[in-house]
Amino acid sequence: MDNSHILLVTVPGQGLINPCLQFAKNLVAMGVKVTFTTSLSAIRRMNKTTTIPQALTLAPFSDGYDNGFEDIHEIESFSSAFRIHSCQAVANLINASADGGHAVSRVVYTTFMPWVAEVAHDHHIPSTLLWIQPATVLDIYYYYFNGYGDVITKNSCDPFCPIELPGLPLLTRRDLPSFLLPTDYYNFWIIACEKHLDMLDAQKNPQVLVNTFDALESDALRAIKKLNMIPIGPLIPSAFLDGKDPSDTSFGGDMFQNSTEYVEWLNSKPESSVVYASFGSLSVLSKKQMEEMAHGLLESQRPFLWVIRETDQNGKNIENEVSFMEELEKQGMIVPWCSQVEVLSHPSLGCFVTHCGWNSTLESLVSGVPVVAFPQWTDQGTNAKLITDVWKTAVRVTVNEEGIVEREEFKRCIEMVMGDGEEGKEMRGNAKKWKELAKEAVKEGGSSDINLKAFVGEIGN
Ligand code: UDX
Repeated sequence: MDNSHILLVTVPGQGLINPCLQFAKNLVAMGVKVTFTTSLSAIRRMNKTTTIPQALTLAPFSDGYDNGFEDIHEIESFSSAFRIHSCQAVANLINASADGGHAVSRVVYTTFMPWVAEVAHDHHIPSTLLWIQPATVLDIYYYYFNGYGDVITKNSCDPFCPIELPGLPLLTRRDLPSFLLPTDYYNFWIIACEKHLDMLDAQKNPQVLVNTFDALESDALRAIKKLNMIPIGPLIPSAFLDGKDPSDTSFGGDMFQNSTEYVEWLNSKPESSVVYASFGSLSVLSKKQMEEMAHGLLESQRPFLWVIRETDQNGKNIENEVSFMEELEKQGMIVPWCSQVEVLSHPSLGCFVTHCGWNSTLESLVSGVPVVAFPQWTDQGTNAKLITDVWKTAVRVTVNEEGIVEREEFKRCIEMVMGDGEEGKEMRGNAKKWKELAKEAVKEGGSSDINLKAFVGEIGN
């Protein structure tokens, strides 16, 4: 291989680190030298058994919050500290690599850190955005800032008003990324999205690597003529995609713990019988919602594995409990974390109740497990729309006037996915189809494999 050296930079959330690590491993397998940098706090949380290939250098930096932050409301001040420290870290790594005789040839940075492109530009190094959400979401942001902002804002006042955007399925308010809604607490992040698009706009032939695959989002990938979106996903451990026992512990829950207890529990259950429920590291459900969900799981009368986190992504304790734990544990198993890819690939799995983070959505598709979609924020409403109405492997829960999903609704949705009705059969059939197509995309000579090789070849030139 040539002297290509990619500097990969990401924000420290697990939902970004997981696909980035996989991306890095795919590059390393192609003979590329990769330096991976993110906050020290995230690298510290990685499990000791995490396998890091030799050609992959981890270069963490302190963002001033090495022990995490106390409260999710500190996210705004954390974001500005992270921005300053990450800029400095990227500049230092670029300089040190040049001094060490192995100059960085490309900087790759993820969603919500557009400033990295500026640092790369100042050092005369080309940069590429790695988009860790569906292409459809990038399209929506693009439209919002390019001629459709008023339509989106006006039509999203009414929850039933359709929002028509070229090349995309018909949307309504709940299908939009939450940052576009004026009521969203985190809508300041929209500024980062605008900046991403400005940076791309300034390039001659803007390329974006997207964690998706061609067959999945064929139209959305081509909807914006100005953006060259290159699908290189799904970024999932290859062992998992090959259908072997995932032995690669660098992914998912293994960042936190290793446990075989739940695997033994799954082993004891019949095929396609288990409901798996998990809501990502940044989504905390209210106590009332937790209890409705607990009742829904109990009333489904099916075995369930439920991830109820005891700590947030910084390791801080969170209140997240249900008062009738003992009753729950008679029918199901509660864990604070698990290796999700391993769980989803287990033959006992029959249904995934998820917040529809993009990784979880992709993981459901590649494992062929149908979904009950309960989106919370950011891109998750759009992901829920896609998986429900476009890929048709899911049913989406309906919330009541108080914004709560009631127990009967959970029961109804689980029954629809797992029961003998026509809708369930269709979802399970579609799930199998997408599993095969996802594998096709990443195998040698598949669309994502070809795209990644072309990207690497281009850097080498
Ligand atoms: C959010 C956004 O919705 C997502 O699109 C974005 O790109 C990252 O941030 P997040 O809440 O992080 O999502 O969820 P998700 O994208 O699903 O990522 C969670 C990851 O943690 C998955 O890879 C999942 O396998 C892993 N996980 C989760 C575990 O390994 N074990 C668990 O118990 C729960």
